[in-house]
Amino acid sequence: MKNDIREILVSEEQIQGRVAELAQALVEEYDGRTPTVVCVLKGSVMFYTDLLRHMQIPLRLDFMSVSSYGAGTTGGAIHIRQELTTDISGKDVIIVEDIMDSGRTLNLLKPLLLKRGAKSVKIVTLLDKPSRRDPAVTLEPDYVGFVIEDEFVVGYGLDYAEQYRNLPYIGILKPEVYAKS
Ligand code: PRP
Repeated sequence: MKNDIREILVSEEQIQGRVAELAQALVEEYDGRTPTVVCVLKGSVMFYTDLLRHMQIPLRLDFMSVSSYGAGTTGGAIHIRQELTTDISGKDVIIVEDIMDSGRTLNLLKPLLLKRGAKSVKIVTLLDKPSRRDPAVTLEPDYVGFVIEDEFVVGYGLDYAEQYRNLPYIGILKPEVYAKS
């Protein structure tokens, strides 16, 4: 698996340090409010569990799996692969994502959760690739771990063909790996 990685972009130590900082900022914002922290499966699972380990305040966990399709003038739509299991109406919601790329997923998910009655919705993403943003998306994440260039990244939850999610760091995949398919 490691042989398919061209270089480590964000090391395990860098990730863990930044995750602790993000958790501290969230604790300061949400202490006393019992937020519902939503893990957007599957990519954010590593980030989510590490983040929550550092958030020693009352909160609720929930999980959702979504994908977006369509774009441009149609505005796109969201497909819910796996639904939340708690009621978020009146709740302060924190969406935890692994990466914001075109931004279409979050641009659809945030309004959906607000429409369901969430009191507030904020977004924390480990990675942000602003160079890939759909021009139609104006939404900005509230908390960002690392802003990265447009590289094919895997690891720490991120996959290529469902592989590499279990690497403890963010690596850049060798082009020959994805050129094969
Ligand atoms: C990835 C990622 C985000 C989304 C970001 O999910 O986890 O949810 O794509 O892309 P966008 O900003 O262009 O919308 P994916 O659909 O690959 O599912 P996964 O998390 O299960 O890998």
